[in-house]
Amino acid sequence: MLKKHAVAIVLLVSLTQALSGPLNFESLPLDTLFPGPWESNIKAPFNKSYIEPVKVFNTEGSVSKSSVLLAGSDDRRSLTLGPGDLVSLEFAENIAGRVCFEVEDYKNEPFIALAYSESPAFVGREPDATTDRIERDLPLHFSIKHNGTNCLGQQYNRGGFKYLTIYMPDDVPTGRAFWHTGMSAPKRGLRHTLNSWAGQAQKLLGFSSTANNRPGVSITALWVNCTAFPSNPNGRAYTGYFDSSSSLLNRIWYAGAWTLQLSTIDPKEGSALIDLNRRWDENQSPTGSWYSNFTISNGTAVTTDGGKRDRMVWPGDMSIAVPGIAVSTYDMLAVRNALDTLFDHQYGDGSLPYAGPPMGTGEFSDTYHIHTLLGVYNYVLYSGDVEWLKRHWADYTTALEISMAKVDEFGLLHVSSTADWLRPGMTGHNVEASALLYDALSKSPMLADLVGDFSNRESWTSMQRILEHGIERLWCEDSGLFADNKGRRGCNGSEEVLPQDGNSWALLSHIINDDRNLKISRNLRERWGKYGAPATEFPNVISPFAGSFELLAHCSAGNYDAAVELMELQWGYMLDGPAFTNSTCAEGYRVDGDVQYPAYWSAARNSHAHGWSTGPTTVLMQEILGIKLTSPLGKTWSIKPQLTKWLSYAQGGFATRLGKFEVGISLVRQSSTGLKIEVIRISTPKDTTGRIEWKGHIMENVHGGHEVQFWRYKDDLDGSVWNVGNEAVLKDLIADDEWIKPPIEEREPGVVNWEALERHLGRSTYRRQQ
Ligand SMILES: *[C@@H]1O[C@H](CO)[C@@H](O)[C@H](O)[C@H]1NC(C)=O
Ligand SMILES: *[C@@H]1O[C@H](CO)[C@@H](O)[C@H](O)[C@H]1NC(C)=O
Ligand SMILES: *[C@@H]1O[C@H](CO)[C@@H](O)[C@H](O)[C@H]1NC(C)=O
Ligand SMILES: *[C@@H]1O[C@H](CO)[C@@H](O)[C@H](O)[C@H]1NC(C)=O
Ligand SMILES: *[C@@H]1O[C@H](CO)[C@@H](O)[C@H](O)[C@H]1NC(C)=O
Ligand SMILES: *[C@@H]1O[C@H](CO)[C@@H](O)[C@H](O)[C@H]1NC(C)=O
Ligand SMILES: *[C@@H]1O[C@H](CO)[C@@H](O)[C@H](O)[C@H]1NC(C)=O
Repeated sequence: MLKKHAVAIVLLVSLTQALSGPLNFESLPLDTLFPGPWESNIKAPFNKSYIEPVKVFNTEGSVSKSSVLLAGSDDRRSLTLGPGDLVSLEFAENIAGRVCFEVEDYKNEPFIALAYSESPAFVGREPDATTDRIERDLPLHFSIKHNGTNCLGQQYNRGGFKYLTIYMPDDVPTGRAFWHTGMSAPKRGLRHTLNSWAGQAQKLLGFSSTANNRPGVSITALWVNCTAFPSNPNGRAYTGYFDSSSSLLNRIWYAGAWTLQLSTIDPKEGSALIDLNRRWDENQSPTGSWYSNFTISNGTAVTTDGGKRDRMVWPGDMSIAVPGIAVSTYDMLAVRNALDTLFDHQYGDGSLPYAGPPMGTGEFSDTYHIHTLLGVYNYVLYSGDVEWLKRHWADYTTALEISMAKVDEFGLLHVSSTADWLRPGMTGHNVEASALLYDALSKSPMLADLVGDFSNRESWTSMQRILEHGIERLWCEDSGLFADNKGRRGCNGSEEVLPQDGNSWALLSHIINDDRNLKISRNLRERWGKYGAPATEFPNVISPFAGSFELLAHCSAGNYDAAVELMELQWGYMLDGPAFTNSTCAEGYRVDGDVQYPAYWSAARNSHAHGWSTGPTTVLMQEILGIKLTSPLGKTWSIKPQLTKWLSYAQGGFATRLGKFEVGISLVRQSSTGLKIEVIRISTPKDTTGRIEWKGHIMENVHGGHEVQFWRYKDDLDGSVWNVGNEAVLKDLIADDEWIKPPIEEREPGVVNWEALERHLGRSTYRRQQ
């Protein structure tokens, strides 16, 4: 408690820190722009080329739970592995990179096997999965050939793992049980010998074993050399921050930022989908093997869908991930490279690809097509890169016209592709696609102004009017939500679906602007279970992707309380749930809280660091602190903070080339009188102007360059009357220690519909077999 008081008081004096030089995303700052106690929540390691494990998770054979390989260990012994020995190591967070170890001694041509897992649920001799061909990837087989530093080859860069199991098999592998990293297979005849070694004791110190011909290796250090987030050698040099009275929310914000860093990779280390890569690189790698050496974009860094997989450019990331990147590390170069890849693979008719290489050979999705356009807006807004926009403007408008041409006499976008975020039923006159287009049309005028093209304005506006009428056909009065389409999945249709994605987009695109907004928000909230908000369009799924849109939707309806409640419920579960990484945001999971993402039959395939799941990193900044840029770099801005009933203080901000945007809100008390005061401080860069809205007070044309402070206080007993003004109240302030966080509603876990799940997958799933 005391610590929180201190922070709240600090808040009252700490804003308005000048930027020492212009922030340039082509050469990111090497130090954090907002130093402070909140940095203890940063998940990025201090030295990303040397990440050591922090815990021994499990051992087998003669390996003791020794601390030799752990960070900070002063244990001078070495760890010796012989046949049958295994050690599973745990890192402080989900990480990425190549494993290296220091060999002190070895004998008899030893090899070790490596198995990686993001989730604690798949730690063992078999790794988790990157492809969907087999349930688990093959363990990697590494032969020791020299003393000293041994590192895996450049292509064996695992993009996401928190657990690493290394072991020496007590039997020579047969067939394809292992995957060899260049070393020839063990010689014939060794199998028998190895079998006879099994079970023999192996001492930790040196090779004191009786069997002189047993293989063995002594290791004195093990580390991971991480190449994710190549844009900055210091992964902790954040350009934004968030802090609040909820330690859970703070962890969520930083887990999102770190997830985005793990999903940003060296473009030459892409695509874990080796079966797709084969179309280009003709690799002969066996089913279940993995490597990351496929070039997925030009440039030096690129933002992708996920750390472990697919390690490809996916437009689904453009709406959620990009603003999150902008306010945490400002790695806009990685965003630009991803957008360039999508435009480089634009098809002849102007359609944009469903994904970048090794895809981009004909695949198309109406929704992802529009996500790319929204990505252009986000990129230009935060980077101010108008020259880039000019180069792509013709491509952009052609692509926009493609979507507009699909709006038919019903006033809705009639999709031509079933592809979306792997959810089923993307057919017909779809609500999500129509609302996405509406949003793209709202955002295009700012872009058109920047390039000086005024030719399309009228057709865009009239298209918006058409969509506003069209979407009414999908309104289900009885349910108070929109239906997925006007066919079978329509209101009272044989398979009525009231989708999370479409209803969220209806709100966040502002296509409807009446009292149904709050109704939809409340109806979405009614559906939540113990582990989060269900994506009813995709049975059995909790999708932090669609859920991130739902967060924005509640805010758009003015229901900020629901947004923060859902973050703590769903993203809190993704941190503290038993099968997650407690450091990154997962691609999806099951309504009953199981780690399986029902898009895949193998639960091990889930990606635990997926950029599209990082909604809170954006939403806390844009909607709770309420800082929105309304023109590139924030030359103009709008600030509308919302503390919500869940918080007693919140502060944070970020920077662009123009300078720092920062907001702090806190509930305090005047110690002498007990008067309750809510104080807000806002600081924006000079030479900018904006609009501030707070509790019904609106200030237009506020000039940046100095700090603005507001407060209001309540002096009646029941707390219903708030007064503003009277500067005298701003004396002897202490944190409002009478503030109590309201209790969270109890909810039942979702129930799995196994029949629907297995019908969708076309097979029984791994978890049910268990
Ligand atoms: C990490 O890998 C890079 C090359 O990718 C190399 O230059 C560097 O020395 C390595 N660092 C460590 C500590 O292994
Ligand atoms: C990271 O650790 C390696 C190995 O100890 C060291 O060579 C390198 O200088 C360290 N880098 C930083 C940034 O501390
Ligand atoms: C490895 O180092 C050990 C002692 O540290 C030494 O006895 C052994 O001969 C070395 N092996 C090779 C192949 O150099
Ligand atoms: C990538 O690695 C795989 C597996 O080792 C190999 O087959 C392929 O040729 C490599 N590709 C490149 C571009 O290095
Ligand atoms: C790199 O840029 C060139 C030229 O624009 C383009 O043809 C190529 O497809 C790009 N590579 C990738 C992997 O996107
Ligand atoms: C759906 O059915 C209910 C009654 O079951 C009816 O009141 C409602 O008007 C119907 N809605 C539509 C859109 O047909
Ligand atoms: C997750 O990590 C936080 C520290 O960031 C820790 O306080 C919490 O106990 C951890 N949760 C679990 C379930 O291990």
